[in-house]
Amino acid sequence: MKQPQLYIGLMSGTSADAIDAALVNLQSIPQLLAQHTLPFPAKTRQQIHSLSLPGNNEIDRMGALDTDLGKLFAQATLALLANAGVSATQISAIGSHGQTIRHRPPGSSEGTFTLQIGDPNLIAELTGITTVADFRRRDMAAGGQGAPLVPSFHRAIFHTQDHDRVIVNIGGMANITYLPAQGQTTGFDTGPGNVLMDGWIHSHSGDIYDKNGAWAASGQVHAELLEALLTDAYFTLPAPKSTGRESFNRAWLNKSLARLLTAPSSADVQATLLELTAATIANSISCLGKTAKEIYVCGGGAYNPRLMQRLQDLLPTDKVASTAVLGIDPQWIEAMAFAWLAQQTINHRAGNLRAVTGAKREVILGGVYYA
Ligand SMILES: Nc1ncnc2c1ncn2[C@@H]1O[C@H](COP(=O)(O)OP(=O)(O)O)[C@@H](O)[C@H]1O
Ligand SMILES: [Mg+2]
Repeated sequence: MKQPQLYIGLMSGTSADAIDAALVNLQSIPQLLAQHTLPFPAKTRQQIHSLSLPGNNEIDRMGALDTDLGKLFAQATLALLANAGVSATQISAIGSHGQTIRHRPPGSSEGTFTLQIGDPNLIAELTGITTVADFRRRDMAAGGQGAPLVPSFHRAIFHTQDHDRVIVNIGGMANITYLPAQGQTTGFDTGPGNVLMDGWIHSHSGDIYDKNGAWAASGQVHAELLEALLTDAYFTLPAPKSTGRESFNRAWLNKSLARLLTAPSSADVQATLLELTAATIANSISCLGKTAKEIYVCGGGAYNPRLMQRLQDLLPTDKVASTAVLGIDPQWIEAMAFAWLAQQTINHRAGNLRAVTGAKREVILGGVYYA
């Protein structure tokens, strides 16, 4: 029997809810062996959110948070290893996505850059494991959006010649990967995933998310608000495209709320935000062609039955399900993807897809911090 090839993926997305750490055997078909979630302390989450928009004294605040997050990523890794009963010396490498605090894709008026923090020097030093990090900037250097990067992994594990498939990742933002049975893999960010719903409920009840979409389900979609939100140019922009909290945030929502003729209740706003996520994903999928597709959802949004139901309603000829039906828990796919991307880098293989990010070439992603 061949030796296992053990990699760890560390992921914390725009929701800034937690660090997801996944131990994966990449010897052949990627196999999730163990997982650990380290929720962010409320203060850390607040610091991340506040650095996601321009503000005062950003360099000092960013530097301090870079260090704190590096230590937390290391802590998540050590807890994962302890749970799994595996030692650091057995791990080939860690792939750490880092925490995005700013994403300015090509065409941004503020300049072109993307910034993920969580110091990989600390991760390598505190775990004793070679760490690959800073994946997005090489794609951007090659002319790409720097995002999304998960489609190459989605293709590696979910492509089949039997059906056209779409993998929908609903984190803070949402992105899709189109895997036609024949032909090229494509994908892009569709817009907000959970980020607006999380922010709205947090400011009303203090909850960090709307569990099972229950609050949204108690309201009515406000047609005028939905229509106003859908006029944002991002939703009709052709791919390649990527986005973040810089574009879809409370100020963006407030602009539309302020112009309404009739004020919705707060539950109606939540219902409308859920509908916005479902509608923008469904519209993007409808544009991929008329053939019936299998739609598999991953990311935290897959645990929101209301959102899953609205997606299915809006895509009646497609079949919508969680990736759990394919045997992979939706929470762990993105962390697994970064374990896989680390292996790509360590083996000197490219990680981006030109048709997805718009990069001029497929490149080896990330920097390597040796153990
Ligand atoms: N049971 C649930 N009901 C509704 N939403 C959920 C549920 N579980 C997770 N979520 C949503 O998923 C989000 C986290 O998703 P995740 O994939 O970790 O996003 P990110 O990659 O941005 O960190 C939470 O903030 C929440 O909005
Ligand atoms: Mg998360």
